[in-house]
Amino acid sequence: MIYMQAHNKASEWFDGLYQNNKKTHENIPWARQAVNPLLQTYLDEEISHKGTALVIGCGLGDDARALELVGYDVTAIDVSQTVLDLAKERFAGSHIKFIKQDIFEYTQTFDFVFEALTVQSLPIAFREKMIKAVAGTVVQGGRLLLVAHKKEEVFEGPPWPLTKEEVELFKTCGLTELSHELHTEDSKISNTHFRVFYKK
Ligand SMILES: C[S@@+](CC[C@H](N)C(=O)[O-])C[C@H]1O[C@@H](n2cnc3c(N)ncnc32)[C@H](O)[C@@H]1O
Repeated sequence: MIYMQAHNKASEWFDGLYQNNKKTHENIPWARQAVNPLLQTYLDEEISHKGTALVIGCGLGDDARALELVGYDVTAIDVSQTVLDLAKERFAGSHIKFIKQDIFEYTQTFDFVFEALTVQSLPIAFREKMIKAVAGTVVQGGRLLLVAHKKEEVFEGPPWPLTKEEVELFKTCGLTELSHELHTEDSKISNTHFRVFYKK
């Protein structure tokens, strides 16, 4: 019960932030309004992009759009109806399926899943459940690209960057690491991002 309350509170917090920043999005710390560069390098590196793709916690929708442009049939989920409406408006000409959906209750599977910064955005009490939920969206034989801040020192969240051990947990959910990279980008959260590519 306490778990559900904390979870609902997190969802309301995100929706409130998007509501208050509908016009310019400038106070939404993660809103690049451009594709995540660590997704873009994957799209540039891999030759073949086909099948279904899922973006978890899609925010304003730029990553979903980038996946659609290279050829995926894209579903993008988020708990905030406000941000889904903004994303639909921004990419009005696209065929992306923007759906209000809680990752913890999602049962669909996809050929390619992109998750950036959503696992770390929920309190650590949710971590294992969240990792299982993310891994559960990858079809057998499919791929997951994970982007997250690496925990470097004590940081009073939100967000709550991931430790190396937490990233390892994806491997207990039927996923095998294909590559594991650390990337540097200045940020007050941490200057290092994990970019980990898995297959199921
Ligand atoms: C830190 S933001 C990251 C947004 C985007 N992935 C990015 O990298 O810019 C986390 C997003 O996940 C969404 N979110 C939070 N909890 C969620 C849940 N349980 N299921 C689906 N989306 C969720 C939030 O509304 C928010 O848009």
